[in-house]
Amino acid sequence: MKIIIFTFIMLTILNTNSFSEFKFIGEIKSINKFDNRIEFKLENSLFNIYVIKDNVIRFRYTNKNSFSEAPSYAVIKNNSISNYDFSETGNYFEIKTSELIVRILKDPCRVSIYDKNMNIINEDEKSFGVSYDFDEVRCFKKLFSDEIFYGLGEKTGNLQKTRNQYTMWNSDTPGYNEKTDPIYQSIPFFIGIRNKKAYGIFLDNTYKSYFNMGASNKRFYWFGSEKGELDYYFINGPEIKKVISSYTDLTGRMELPPKWALGYQQSRWSYYPESRVREIAKTFRDKEIPCDVIYLDIHYMNDYRVFTWDKNRFPDPQKMLNDLSKDGFKIITIVDPGVKADTINYSIAKEGLRRNLFAKYPDGEVYQGEVWPSWAFFPDFTKKETRTWWGEKNADLLKQGIAGIWNDMNEPAVWGASFPDLVLFDDNGFKADHKKIHNVYGLEMAHATFEGLKNEFPNKRPFILTRAGFSGIQRYAAVWTGDNVASEEHLKLACTMPLGMGISGVPFCGSDVGGFMGTPSPNLYLRWMQLGAFTPFFRGHSVINASAKEPWAFGEEIEKWVKDIISLRYELLPYFYNEFYAASKTGLPIMRPMFLNFQNDDECYAFESQYQFMIGEDILVAPVLSENKNFKKVYLPEGKWLDWWNSKIYEGNKWIIVEAPSSIIPLFIREGGIIPMQEKQNYIGEKNIKELMLKIFPSKNSNYVLYEDDGITQNYKKGEYSLTRFEVNKNDNSITLNISKEKDGYETKREDYLISFYDINEFSSIENNNNSLNSFNSLDELKNQNEGFYFDKENNLLLIKVKDHGNMNIQIKDL
Ligand code: GLC
Repeated sequence: MKIIIFTFIMLTILNTNSFSEFKFIGEIKSINKFDNRIEFKLENSLFNIYVIKDNVIRFRYTNKNSFSEAPSYAVIKNNSISNYDFSETGNYFEIKTSELIVRILKDPCRVSIYDKNMNIINEDEKSFGVSYDFDEVRCFKKLFSDEIFYGLGEKTGNLQKTRNQYTMWNSDTPGYNEKTDPIYQSIPFFIGIRNKKAYGIFLDNTYKSYFNMGASNKRFYWFGSEKGELDYYFINGPEIKKVISSYTDLTGRMELPPKWALGYQQSRWSYYPESRVREIAKTFRDKEIPCDVIYLDIHYMNDYRVFTWDKNRFPDPQKMLNDLSKDGFKIITIVDPGVKADTINYSIAKEGLRRNLFAKYPDGEVYQGEVWPSWAFFPDFTKKETRTWWGEKNADLLKQGIAGIWNDMNEPAVWGASFPDLVLFDDNGFKADHKKIHNVYGLEMAHATFEGLKNEFPNKRPFILTRAGFSGIQRYAAVWTGDNVASEEHLKLACTMPLGMGISGVPFCGSDVGGFMGTPSPNLYLRWMQLGAFTPFFRGHSVINASAKEPWAFGEEIEKWVKDIISLRYELLPYFYNEFYAASKTGLPIMRPMFLNFQNDDECYAFESQYQFMIGEDILVAPVLSENKNFKKVYLPEGKWLDWWNSKIYEGNKWIIVEAPSSIIPLFIREGGIIPMQEKQNYIGEKNIKELMLKIFPSKNSNYVLYEDDGITQNYKKGEYSLTRFEVNKNDNSITLNISKEKDGYETKREDYLISFYDINEFSSIENNNNSLNSFNSLDELKNQNEGFYFDKENNLLLIKVKDHGNMNIQIKDL
């Protein structure tokens, strides 16, 4: 008995000792102020603070003796500033910038961040702060009862992330559902909002990380990683837009893509052989359904060997590509990372081995994992030589006539889903294992491809599509939301997920329209197409064994409506392209949650508001996300809203129910909206567009600046673009439209404008640069004239046609 009790006690003691314990950072022992940072030595940690900008502060902790010197994969610009105040008062140190006050309590070391009026924005949980559990590190923050969270990139479930926990670990999750987490991308950045004021936190750590946004407790939220430093950036708003802009200042922004990438794209696993690809292309053109891109999925390759062709299926790729390009089609090929481990007949594998470009086990053996080509080697994209080599191989595809590259399986995915953690990578010379590199493997693959295409074709804009990524992926690629399902649940996710990506710095995103797995009902397909036409990335795709999902596969009626909505996307190209330009400049999303534009409106944070969105500032899109409904509940924020389809005007600040027969997706123009449009084309660049159409819903005063360039080269970076400003003023008597060239670096082919003014009751005359315009009896009649107007009194719609004289002043008199 004694022996049993003794053994029990010993076991208990041993057990307790081997329990892991959270070790808190403790008090500040010493401080050293350098030009670019302040260094604190704490009881159990090193801690550095960098002031990056007046609203961006970097906090960096490690329980090692020094900080890592390996460069960040995500952050490309984090120079710190030194013009801020630093002081010591009693039990705290204080940093003061023009926008923030940061107090660092000495014992225990805790950070509190205030606005300049000393209102608390964010603070460490008073007892827990930052803690370590061996390699694992966590940062506990006080959770305010009214605090809500958004962001975290590509996540399923609701757009709002409050009271849930999320993991960052890129995962191949075919047929995921609204509860699956994690999926393909890791964007460790979130936005916290309280009292309508926003801040953001970006955790720059690539290891498996966690974000507990107040799940299972009401005291704190926390974020942290299994290993590596706690290196995070606090970004103050209070505007949400400012948070996103500052975050993308750190991690980079999307470059302007080729204009054709905004067009409709058709994919399937897989279109082959060549005759099938030609047939798809021909059907689009015969039916005059606009389409710019066709994808070649894995069957174009010789037994899934990347950078090869299956010569039986595609005997003369160059000829095919050439022919299709005459018809306006751009062909994009899938390129997976796994290089078939065929060391006998496959030059890519042999070259990679010879040049030591693949990831290896610690004992030096090259790792092999199983994917489509069976056993495969995995390029080490964290090694410069590998990136250059891979970039060149991708550029070779472009030399053959391929227009863009589709990166898939780059989580990296392997059968069994467990890429061994001990596999080693170069980590840009710093050497790291898979645990550190996993989440940036896709990012670095896209990086390699992007650089390769740019090196070989310096004046071309690269187009890359990727499944996996990390913060910063927006610099290199568009993102699609992976293997979704043809279901209503996924139709909803196809709305909320690109919205979530947009506010996480990745504007160019969309879903597999129609659903990848399974076959959608005709109505589900139609509603998805209507939504897809308003997502920045617009591609239909399908799994191998589902029935046809092309626009003509669901009967004539659906085909017509689908054609209408794709056509509308092409008509709206000037508006969309302008938003892409803006996104490339500001980092703000193209497709925006309501609360981004209307930050002070409670209803915009409501659960149902996540199922509608804004494109830019002026178009509200309210997709029907249900296959059998023909109405939609829509929230219209303050102001007036014009129904796109029937010119009806609504007073905002309320929820309405609008009818949405199958033929339409509810759309509204915000009062003051100026929407540039152009005629439909079968593909972007097909026609020499000579007329710019403007839809104007006049308010007291509004402005719109239209960006135009050649849509394909890098010349815009040298100033070859034009900016045209449209300014509308409305008073009790008249409406004036001023058109002025703000920048003239690119010559548009424009000859005239067709301008629609909505909400016009009556007027006496219309003058263009003081010359009065003639009235005509119908739109058709007007279209045949050089200049003039037609008043559709019934719809309060005034159409004006004028020549493009450069700077112009149009007046509608005596309202
Ligand atoms: C993956 C991709 C999918 C692709 C398939 C075959 O499942 O997510 O888009 O069609 O692989 O390459």
